[in-house]
Amino acid sequence: VDPTLDLVADIQRLKREKNAVILAHYYQDAEIQDIADYIGDSLGLSQQAAKTDAAMIVFAGVHFMAETAKILSPSKKVLLPDLKAGCSLSDSCPPHLFAKFKEQYPDHLVITYVNCTAELKALSDIVCTSSNAVEIVQSLPKDQKIIFGPDRNLGDYVKKKTGRDLVLWNGACMVHEIFSQDKIVNLRNQFPDAKFIAHPECEEHILSQADYIGSTSGMLKYTIENPAQQFIVATESGILHQMQKASPTKTFIPAPPNNVCACNDCPHMKLNTLEKLYNCLLYELPEVDLPADVVAQARKPIERMLEISE
Ligand code: 13P
Ligand code: SF4
Repeated sequence: VDPTLDLVADIQRLKREKNAVILAHYYQDAEIQDIADYIGDSLGLSQQAAKTDAAMIVFAGVHFMAETAKILSPSKKVLLPDLKAGCSLSDSCPPHLFAKFKEQYPDHLVITYVNCTAELKALSDIVCTSSNAVEIVQSLPKDQKIIFGPDRNLGDYVKKKTGRDLVLWNGACMVHEIFSQDKIVNLRNQFPDAKFIAHPECEEHILSQADYIGSTSGMLKYTIENPAQQFIVATESGILHQMQKASPTKTFIPAPPNNVCACNDCPHMKLNTLEKLYNCLLYELPEVDLPADVVAQARKPIERMLEISE
């Protein structure tokens, strides 16, 4: 990139010229969040992708999110600043293995967490996100047998909240499995007035300590509405930017990870940079595209989710 460029101004200009919209997930770097037209959780981002009238969607997030945008707006050009921005949770559930798994439960309905490939969504009956998983399971008849994948931690959480017996796929997110229970206990002793908030992709022994469990937007809302002045946050660190912006006088402490990890960054989310965003808008590359049959199949379970979550 030309060092004389003012990346922020040039991204804004290109966005206007090309009638593009920038959708960013809360886990993006602060500078990317600050330039986005819409910042949100997975549900909010897919709702925006479905209703935007822009000609082009630049997705500052990971591959499965851009795919979801393409499925919901197939006539639009969907760009992802770095095609290598994948997801360990999505990778933990290869569609051909899931298809075999599903064959073992022919009378079960398949609910998949949005953090999965378009091919996996095409094998599903309903998609969900962390903000509506409980609601979606509860909307089904009590005797409905259900397979839930790929996140076993979210699946366990939904089982607990709904009292339903879900068949779980054994997948997980690398970022939400790093938190250290002992260090969180020590931190809470150090900050006894702090609220401990966690994303449901965390493991049960972390969630059991939480004052609040919810999606990224749920956690953000909780920090705004709760009178506490300190929050220990067990999710990817990008969300702290919006929390701090919304409540400048409050203190946000990232939940400590175990000794193997230095921080709570998602290495996939953090592949996106302002430079890549600029190049992506300039060259209209890399583009995320999908075969028409996958779009048609994957669209039904996503639309079912959007109908339930309206
Ligand atoms: P939400 O934004 O839906 O809470 O999802 C978190 C996540 O892990 C996205 O990759
Ligand atoms: Fe995937 Fe976890 Fe990164 Fe979200 S935070 S994109 S679930 S690896």
